[in-house]
Amino acid sequence: MPLIDVCFSPELLHLYNLSGKVAVVVDVLRATSSMVTAFAHGIEKIIPVSTLNDCLTQKQAGYLTAAERDGRKAEGFDLGNSPFSYMEESIKGKTLIMTTTNGTHAIRLSAAADKVLAGAFLNVGKVAEFLEAEGKDVLVVCAGWKGNFNLEDTLFAGALAERLKDSFTAANDATLAAQHLYRLAQSDMNGFLANSSHVQRLKNFDITEDVAFCLREDVYEVVPVLAGDSLVPLVSLPVE
Ligand code: MLT
Repeated sequence: MPLIDVCFSPELLHLYNLSGKVAVVVDVLRATSSMVTAFAHGIEKIIPVSTLNDCLTQKQAGYLTAAERDGRKAEGFDLGNSPFSYMEESIKGKTLIMTTTNGTHAIRLSAAADKVLAGAFLNVGKVAEFLEAEGKDVLVVCAGWKGNFNLEDTLFAGALAERLKDSFTAANDATLAAQHLYRLAQSDMNGFLANSSHVQRLKNFDITEDVAFCLREDVYEVVPVLAGDSLVPLVSLPVE
């Protein structure tokens, strides 16, 4: 049976060999949740970049720009990082160049994997389905917060491992810990995360609805995948 492993922070990625694996990058609050929502509402392509400057210099005519830092929309960009901003008609068929505090950088750091997916609770079931069909070892890459562990991304890793427990083997204690945490939290995710650092950070900016929405499971069926420097919906990838 293939293995499922969990990397708690991009700072630990050097400990993992990504080749031959599918990397599932997760930033529940809110980068990958917003990306999944954007594709579910018809965005064409998302180019994840690491810096604000990259986002501005790589902007081409017709591109939308999105930038968030420390939980807030950065000045001078079209969009921030709330999933609700990606439910507008205006994003349909567009290309978005996006930078966030952690999530977009974690995607770039995972590019050496055979495939890089954007995972969130919103599409966890569809991600699990794809991984079962692919049958390759999996590494869940938690975006965390500025190199630190965060609870919500690890809960996603636990939820995914739980969905795959009959077809994948937990690679080590990181996966087991994530599964145990998820089993403790799954009946009341909002309550379990109420005192977590990023939930508190967002609450200080009166951002609460985003959190409740990003913790909902299986709202969308789309799986963003990295193709070159862009994320596209998995369906548009040629079948190998
Ligand atoms: C991030 O990249 O750290 C997050 O997406 C931050 C946020 O949206 O609040």
